[in-house]
Formats: sequence, structure tokens, C-alpha cells
Amino acid sequence: MDFRPLARRRLPAPLFHYIDGGADDEWSLRNNTRAFENHQLMPNQLQDVSQIDLRTQVLGTELAMPLVLSPTGMNRLFHHEREPAVARAAARAGVCYSLSTLGNSSIEEVAAACDGPKMFQIYIFKDRGLTREFVVRARESGYQTLCLTVDTPLAGNRERDLRTGMIMPPKFTLAGLASFLMSPHWSWHYLLDHDFRMANVAHRVDALGAGAMSLIDYVNSQFDRALTWDDAAWLSEQWPGPFVIKGLQSPGDARRAAEIGASAIMVSNHGGRQLDSAPAPIDCIAPMRDAVGDQLELIVDGGVRRATHIVKALALGANACSFGRPYLYALAAGGERGVERMLELLRSELTRTMALLGCRSIAELDERVLAGNTPSDKI
Ligand SMILES: Cc1cc2nc3c(=O)[nH]c(=O)nc-3n(C[C@H](O)[C@H](O)[C@H](O)COP(=O)(O)O)c2cc1C
Repeated sequence: MDFRPLARRRLPAPLFHYIDGGADDEWSLRNNTRAFENHQLMPNQLQDVSQIDLRTQVLGTELAMPLVLSPTGMNRLFHHEREPAVARAAARAGVCYSLSTLGNSSIEEVAAACDGPKMFQIYIFKDRGLTREFVVRARESGYQTLCLTVDTPLAGNRERDLRTGMIMPPKFTLAGLASFLMSPHWSWHYLLDHDFRMANVAHRVDALGAGAMSLIDYVNSQFDRALTWDDAAWLSEQWPGPFVIKGLQSPGDARRAAEIGASAIMVSNHGGRQLDSAPAPIDCIAPMRDAVGDQLELIVDGGVRRATHIVKALALGANACSFGRPYLYALAAGGERGVERMLELLRSELTRTMALLGCRSIAELDERVLAGNTPSDKI
């Protein structure tokens, strides 16, 4: 699934590094994928693997394979086809699509593009009226699931963005500016359409009389750092369907999430973009599962790049996996067709992995397919 080099060629450097980078020393970013290497898979042979069934029930709905596309903001930066392209590809592949509050496409536009399972990812803003408005719009537009991200009281320290000038407002270096000229496909579409507004919050910014460039400032100033579990409980009560909390990693937090009635946790360190040195999500699954039993579903979010990663996560006790960068690279490389191709490749890789492992269905993935842990890498 090597869409990353293609994305690197297609995108102006500051935008590629905005997707690709992490916080501080990027230790968590690297470790999220590397941690999967600490687990081995033990094949069971002669199991009649002529039929492999990848379907599974997650978030109260059937998915064609155990995958959720994580919410990512501002997809217009990466391709002119924006969020609806990803949502359509997800629906065709039968996986769950998540729209970020900070998308360039509205809740309603994405709902119209996506007739598959979909989730709206919400931040609690200081302006509770806006948060309430999102809940109503997502419900009325047919999103089955609401997902509250809690690991972003403020933005992480992404030093690549400081170096490339990908900050708001942008302060590009000469090299950064030159890379826009060297990305003719991207730059041509920029000339045709440069509406980069965050469609779901733009009306509030306009109401304040601010210009488009201050959107990020508005959002940053609106993220409520005073949030507590009471706020999460309040939001959970507003939503009639599955309620997900994204960004938890500790067993204690998993217990709190179960207590307030969450249906699932996206076990995540935001792809290594927030707290550097936070543990890899895959390493959090077993302790969280021990803490909450079957009270809620666990989704491994971060570092998932291969079918073997999905299989290991499920064997360790997760219900599904999710990822962000893999589909953003594919979007940047080829728009909707790129995402569709990436999901097809992943599906065939997962089918092959299951067959080689001797498992015919997702339900067969449990600790018996693990061959024991290898000693952790010394980093
Ligand atoms: C460019 C980019 C934008 C993101 N925007 C959001 C967002 O708006 N809301 C959110 O909850 N997470 C956001 N994330 C985090 C993803 O949802 C997800 O946690 C992360 O990408 C998982 O790691 P992976 O990229 O290794 O799969 C973003 C990630 C990236 C790379």
C-alpha cells in the first residue's frame, strides 16, 4: 500500500509534511507502527480457507471488514475532491467513514455522498450552542454514530509544520513556496477552487465578522480546555445512537468511558500528533480490555498500515482498527479512485492474511492466533 511516495510527489512539501508529521520528536508516531512488530502470528494449517468472511459488527452496524476511516480535518488541502470522495470510497468498500468537525465539507454534503455507515467526530467548543447545533445536524443527516475527540485540549507541537511554514496564517519558506510551483496538478486545482473554509464552523466565524484566514484562530480559541468527564457524559446523553470517545489510552479512562455509557473507544494518541511518548494504541488494548471486559468496543487507531496489523489488533482484543494517514496519502495520490484502490488492496491483503493464518472469519481471531510476544525493541 505505498501511496505515501505518490502523495509526496503530488503535494507541495508543507502539505505532505502536515499529513506525515507528528509531535515533538515523533517517537509516538514511529512507535505506533513499530509496536506491532512485538507480536507474532501463529498459523493453523488444514482449515479449509476456501471462503473467507471479513464481515463484522461494530458500532451497531455491519462492516464489510473491521475498518473505520479516522476523522481528519481539511481534506481540501490534499485533493480538490475533498471529504465526499473519501466518504464515497468508504461506502463502496463497506467500511465506516468519519467526518471531522474541521472538514472542508459540511455535515449535510458528506451525508448526501455517503450511503454507508458514517460517524461524525465532534469537538466540544466553548460555544456550546455550536456543539448542540452539530449534534442536531448530524442526527438529522443520518449519521449513526457520534465520536468525541478528547486528546486535543490544544494542538500538539508539530515542528515540521513550524519548519515548512504550515502554520496559521502560513509563513512559507522559499523552499516551501517553490514546492507549490513544482506541484502543477495541485496548484492548477488551487487556481480553479481555493475555498479552504472549514464548512461546519465557517458560519460562526462569519458571524464574528472575521475573514477566512482566521478560521484556525477561531477554532483554537474555541477548543475548551476546561472539559471534564461531566461534559463527555452530557454529550453522550444528547446522542441516541452509538457514542464513541476518541483519544483514550489508560485502563482507568476506559472504565470512566464505560461508566458514562460510551459504546466504543477509539484507542488513540492522535497518530502521534499530540502527546509525544504516549504509548502505541496496540499496546493499550490488552490492559483496557482487562479493565472493561465486554462493556464497550475498542478500536485501535494509530500506526495501522498492514492487514497483519488488523489481525494482531483483533487477536489482542480489539473489535476493529482505524487509520488516517493511509487514506490521506491515497487521496492526495489519486482522489476518490486512489482511496478506492487503497481499500481494495487492503481487502485483498486481509483476505490473504486470514487464509495463510488458517482463519475463516473475524470471530476466529483471538489469542490463539498469537505466537507470544517478542521482546520489545530497545529504542
Ligand atoms: C492530517 C490529519 C488531520 C487530522 N485531523 C483530525 C481531526 O480533525 N479530528 C480528530 O479527531 N483526529 C484527527 N486526526 C487524527 C486521526 O483521526 C487519527 O487519530 C490518526 O490519523 C491515526 O493515526 P494514523 O494516521 O497513523 O492512522 C488527524 C490526523 C491527520 C494525519
